[in-house]
Amino acid sequence: MTDQPSAPNSEARIIGWPCDYSLSPAMHNAAFAELGLMHSYVLAPTPPGTEQAAFDALHSDGVLGANVTVPHKVTAVGLVDVLDDSARRAQAVNTIVKQGSRLVGYNTDGTGFVSSLRADGEFEVTGRRCAILGAGGAARSIACALVDANAGSVLIVNRTVERASQCAEIVGSPATVGGIEDLQDADLIVNATSVGLTSKDEEFVGRIVAEIRPEHFVVDIVYRPLDTDLLVAARQRGARTLDGLSMLVHQAALSFQLWTGRDAPVATMRRAALAALAE
Ligand code: ATR
Repeated sequence: MTDQPSAPNSEARIIGWPCDYSLSPAMHNAAFAELGLMHSYVLAPTPPGTEQAAFDALHSDGVLGANVTVPHKVTAVGLVDVLDDSARRAQAVNTIVKQGSRLVGYNTDGTGFVSSLRADGEFEVTGRRCAILGAGGAARSIACALVDANAGSVLIVNRTVERASQCAEIVGSPATVGGIEDLQDADLIVNATSVGLTSKDEEFVGRIVAEIRPEHFVVDIVYRPLDTDLLVAARQRGARTLDGLSMLVHQAALSFQLWTGRDAPVATMRRAALAALAE
């Protein structure tokens, strides 16, 4: 967390392409207003190939920092001056804090995910058997944070097994690679694939659902739609579920704290995100 209060009338940005769908401006502007902070959060649409200029622009006066979203999270690793451990381990940056003349890269996706489990799912990670579907950047951030939160085991299950192995290697012990049949033994099942977001894959969802039991806690990081096919089917099988908006809100809350040094008004941010999602 930053140790200095932010200067008034400062700006935070979201660097992404496209980024006009983002719920972050609604969440952060509502949070700034709630705490009486005269800051603003704006879109910085950044087509691929123009990342360097977008990062250079963060050095302007009055910029607190930025969020980084698809497709620039991995590129951002090489464009900041300092990497926090959270970003170094996940090899992806979603939050930049300007400290003096330096841009410091953080990753609040995974820690936000673990916070959301605790706050909205009443699920404590310590010692629990966790399974993650997917091996992309989102899966990697979540797996690192689950390991850091002392998960008992972290199983990476991915369509392309080679990517699962690479992911498990980056995350380190106790992450291992498994298949869909191993989901039976998990306490927590997280969908961190893009299924449900960029593609609808009924066969994939069906194979996951077939393994779900009432003891499972199932989370989908997709939040558009809020209630994904996977979550609906998991509840029908008696499992508890948590939607992806929860992680989105909690990663945003952690970014907010890094920029302002203040506790984020999480309930206000969730309300703002829900309202923006409904538009
Ligand atoms: P991100 O960095 O945002 O997590 P990504 O790197 O594109 O996104 O990763 C998408 C993930 O969804 C991958 O794990 C991908 O599996 P592959 O590594 O096999 O490509 C997974 N995914 C996408 N479509 C899928 C599908 N129809 N069935 C199963 N997994 C799928």
